[in-house]
Amino acid sequence: MSETPTPPESAPESPPERARVWTTPANVALCAEADIADPGSRGFVLQIGEAFFHGFVVREAGQLAGYVDRCPHQGFPLAIELDRYLVPDGALILCGWHGAVFKPLTGDCVGGPCAGARLTPWPVTVRDGVIRTA
Ligand code: FES
Repeated sequence: MSETPTPPESAPESPPERARVWTTPANVALCAEADIADPGSRGFVLQIGEAFFHGFVVREAGQLAGYVDRCPHQGFPLAIELDRYLVPDGALILCGWHGAVFKPLTGDCVGGPCAGARLTPWPVTVRDGVIRTA
């Protein structure tokens, strides 16, 4: 004879919501410049105090641009797959949720549900071969 399982006294708690910030202090080292292909992209999560910043950096034609990882359409992070912010030929940034596409070096949305909107810039710079926040 088997016993009927008893339900837990209380439902498990869901993890606390993580506070988000939308800017970063300057001069935080992110990665070596050589770590991002051309064209290529990479995502970053920085903990700032108790809060977290989510951003990504893209490279096109030797130039870098950084953006807050938040789609202007519905506010979701763009990449569904880690570090894959670009379409396969690298010509555009893609939001994997509803297909918005953006120019890599300006963040201008050129197609999809938020055409005419723009990604929020995240200033980055390169010093001594290291990509840093600016
Ligand atoms: S959230 Fe990016 S296209 Fe909808």
